[in-house]
Amino acid sequence: MIKAAEKNGVPIVNITVGERKYSFVNKCSHFGCDLTKGSLHGHSLICICGWQYDLNTGRAMNHPMAELERVT
Ligand code: FES
Repeated sequence: MIKAAEKNGVPIVNITVGERKYSFVNKCSHFGCDLTKGSLHGHSLICICGWQYDLNTGRAMNHPMAELERVT
C-alpha cells in the first residue's frame, strides 16, 4: 500500500509491505516525481518513469548513487 502524507509541511510517502513500513520524502531522485504514483514490486518501488528503489535501503537499484530521503 502506498499513501501520501505530510510531516512538518514536507510531503512524504508511507509504504506498507506486509508487516514492514517505510517512509520517505515524496520526491524521486530522478526528476522529483510523486512516488505515490509508482508501483510496488515486493520490497521495491518503481517510480512512474522507471527508477526502481530498494525500500530497505532507499537506494535506486540501477543508479546506486541515488537515494530516497528516509523519514523517521
Ligand atoms: S522521476 Fe522517478 S523515475 Fe523519473
